[in-house]
Amino acid sequence: MGPADLEEIIGALRFEGNPAVLVGPGDDAGVYLVNDTAVVETVDVITPVVNDPFLFGAISANNSMSDIYAMGGRPVAALAVAGFPSCDYGPAVFREIVRGALHSLQRAGAVLVGGHSFDDPELKFGLSVTGVIDRDRILRVSGAKEGEVVVITKPIGIGILTTALKGGRLTDEEIQPAVEWMLTVNETASSLALRAGATACTDVTGFGLLGHALNMVRGAEIDFVVEHKAVPVLEKVREMIDAGMVPGGAYQNLSFLAGKVDFSPDLSEEEKLLLSDPQTSGGLLLTLQEEGLALFRESSLFFSVIGRVVKGTGKIVVQ
Ligand code: CO
Ligand code: CO
Repeated sequence: MGPADLEEIIGALRFEGNPAVLVGPGDDAGVYLVNDTAVVETVDVITPVVNDPFLFGAISANNSMSDIYAMGGRPVAALAVAGFPSCDYGPAVFREIVRGALHSLQRAGAVLVGGHSFDDPELKFGLSVTGVIDRDRILRVSGAKEGEVVVITKPIGIGILTTALKGGRLTDEEIQPAVEWMLTVNETASSLALRAGATACTDVTGFGLLGHALNMVRGAEIDFVVEHKAVPVLEKVREMIDAGMVPGGAYQNLSFLAGKVDFSPDLSEEEKLLLSDPQTSGGLLLTLQEEGLALFRESSLFFSVIGRVVKGTGKIVVQ
């Protein structure tokens, strides 16, 4: 069962009619009103994407906090969640992972207030994160408007590169640029999105660029037209696709997208898989009016305009 299914089940079963729930299941994070404070909450747990436990903890923490930034919020406190195969690793590894997570939390101005671990055949680590958010300025996944541009704030291909690392096709040194991107928090991107008047925003994670783009148009009378040549791609990614280093998740995402994405006939299978590649600690995907780009250009933030919003039926067109 995938995470989307869990969100659907929660959405179908939860009790309706609580006015304190400002955003329920189906968005990057939930928003709940406690007295006059809007609290934003999310959880994500991942398996190792790098060999170094400190870096893995730091990346996983950023990945978990990313959903808070994708809503326009600010993380304040977190709980650690860890699956730990005690026979394979000693406590020193665990300590390094937590140290890495603390490093990322400190940089974000958030604190670790506790955690829970359980025996698991596979090492897993993540955070449940609580943040605060301006209730009048919540960046929802939906809300994009016809005529706007679609912007991404990190290059893609992280899932392919981490698969290549696990497959022994890349060294720790060769994957360093991707590690730097995973260590880059979406805080600046989030505050720019708010200031530039973004109408919709999400972060690119497990469903890949196209899967998350689809979440932004689903059920709306708009389409996203994505120029695949404008999508920024990390170095060595195409080489690793040719070497067969494509994660299973990319194939799953692509088959889920069948019938929901119109691909230009000249797009290769490799390009389609790349656009479906699951990202860890990926960038923000957002829509805004073209004038809003001025703020992005003035900043030092990496970004790329990858398409535009047109009148439509809730699908993605890739050309
Ligand atoms: Co998200
Ligand atoms: Co999420």
